[in-house]
Amino acid sequence: MLCKFAGLVLLVAGFCSAALAQTQAVDAEGHQWWQHAVFYEIYPRSFMDSNNDGIGDLNGIASKLDYLKSLGVDAIWITPCYPSPQVDFGYDVSDYENIDPMYGTLADFDRMQEEAKQRGIRIIMDFVMNHSSDQHAWFIDSRSSRTSAKRDWYMWHDGKGSSEPNNWVSTFGGAAWTMDAKTGQFYYHYFYPQQPDLNWRNPAVHDAMFDVTRWWYKRGVAGFRLDAVDTLFEDPAMRDNPVLPGTDKFGDPLEENLYNTKLPEVHVVLRDLRKVADQNNAVLIGETWTKDVSELKQYYGEHSDELQMPMDFMFTTVNRLSPPEFRRQIAAVDSAGGWPVFVISNHDIVRSAVRYGDGQNNQAIAKLMGSLYLTLRGTPIMYYGEEIGMENNDPTRKEDVKDPIGRVGWPMEKGRDGERTPMQWDDSPNAGFTRGTPWLPVPLSYKNVNVASEMKDPASTLNLYRGLLALRHENHALLDGDYVALNQSDPNVLSYLRRYKNEAVLVVLNMSSQPQEVSFDLTPQGFPAKNANTLLTTMKTATGSLSHLSLEPFAVYIGSISK
Ligand code: GLC
Ligand code: CA
Repeated sequence: MLCKFAGLVLLVAGFCSAALAQTQAVDAEGHQWWQHAVFYEIYPRSFMDSNNDGIGDLNGIASKLDYLKSLGVDAIWITPCYPSPQVDFGYDVSDYENIDPMYGTLADFDRMQEEAKQRGIRIIMDFVMNHSSDQHAWFIDSRSSRTSAKRDWYMWHDGKGSSEPNNWVSTFGGAAWTMDAKTGQFYYHYFYPQQPDLNWRNPAVHDAMFDVTRWWYKRGVAGFRLDAVDTLFEDPAMRDNPVLPGTDKFGDPLEENLYNTKLPEVHVVLRDLRKVADQNNAVLIGETWTKDVSELKQYYGEHSDELQMPMDFMFTTVNRLSPPEFRRQIAAVDSAGGWPVFVISNHDIVRSAVRYGDGQNNQAIAKLMGSLYLTLRGTPIMYYGEEIGMENNDPTRKEDVKDPIGRVGWPMEKGRDGERTPMQWDDSPNAGFTRGTPWLPVPLSYKNVNVASEMKDPASTLNLYRGLLALRHENHALLDGDYVALNQSDPNVLSYLRRYKNEAVLVVLNMSSQPQEVSFDLTPQGFPAKNANTLLTTMKTATGSLSHLSLEPFAVYIGSISK
């Protein structure tokens, strides 16, 4: 093959398309596709059930692509839909290169992906790289004997007498070691015993897992969300973790995960995965539980050569409507040097409408939160249902709990069922998700909180999200503008400017239950205008006067400002 690339003539077969793929930019400033995209997380069990067995499936997702398109979604991240015993609802994968029959077939996947492609929607898969299911052929082989070919694909160790090799505790409760009677050794699992950790120090594991990513790229996927990256490597000397005072929700001693999370070797793997991603114009999103900005920076890579999109979970730790706290967190992440990635909830985190809600104004607060993270600099990842202000439906009795951590940790830990309930499509039984019995119950609020009803109401959360996403796609300041915090001492109203060349967008969010009045002098920011031109607001009337902007409780005001 012969092709011209950056003035050089190259003769290397295969190199051209790979090298070109990584340089494809969507604008003259070199932005990549994922920087201008809106991502949307789908929990496949709960999105749409096409065959009425009570469990969502790929054909169900395919049937809702028009909805996603009209909402303004550019990429969907589907949480694991691979064959799995479903102990952790798919995060225990027994075959990385197939689809679980409960979700459909590879042919269904291809069809869904093709239909998505026709609508300009990319597919992101979930890559569960730290562990497999104990039912994966690799682990079945590994546990069969001490000399099996795949013994060293997992973390087998002798105990100290009959007790565990060290004091590491599973984040899902109990010891992180399970004794396997057949071979008389312990295996390590950061999560459930049915999720044995893969041994990433073994080059064969490394190669097999990299091949998995290539296999899906070949099928057409646009990237991966990397599950639990923090936990890939463990200390080879297996030192005990420092024990902290107190116990966790499962009653286990608290530990500092010094020797079993965030080891530097993780970054070597991420750099390699990134090379393969770049060859496929793909994006890597990280489930990165960073404690501070310096850790977050490391995930982007010293030379921006690791994750393009490490999720900023520190943003989700701001757990009340506090302008000062949000200001601090946004500024910190904005200064990290990378492209920020904002999420406000997911399948492990209580839905934002409840986390920030006051029980009285939850829909107004859902609009406020949507307006916040969808107007910040960076790429947002929505969670299905967030756009309608869906709320948690937590189990009230232990016997109803499906998520195992909720059974082990009840009542302190109720598990994650509440944030994983079926998508609420309309006001028919089971919110239109299934005609069977849904695997988790929908909350009573579905009668009003659903797509069909909200579509008809111009003042709904759904229509606000649609307006926000439409704006994000066309407005240069929202796409590429810098972030400038305004009125930084205001304890009630969070305001900022997104500024791009001669345009700017002013975002004003009243995070209080009281009316507020604010004023802005944007001369120092280069915009001596007296008025904003209203783009979007939750208020019936808004003057756009920058000297007297009146805000109703929890109001959103977004206006454009010209030079
Ligand atoms: C991640 C997933 C979570 C899962 C865990 C183990 O944290 O988001 O749902 O239980 O990894 O795979
Ligand atoms: Ca189904």
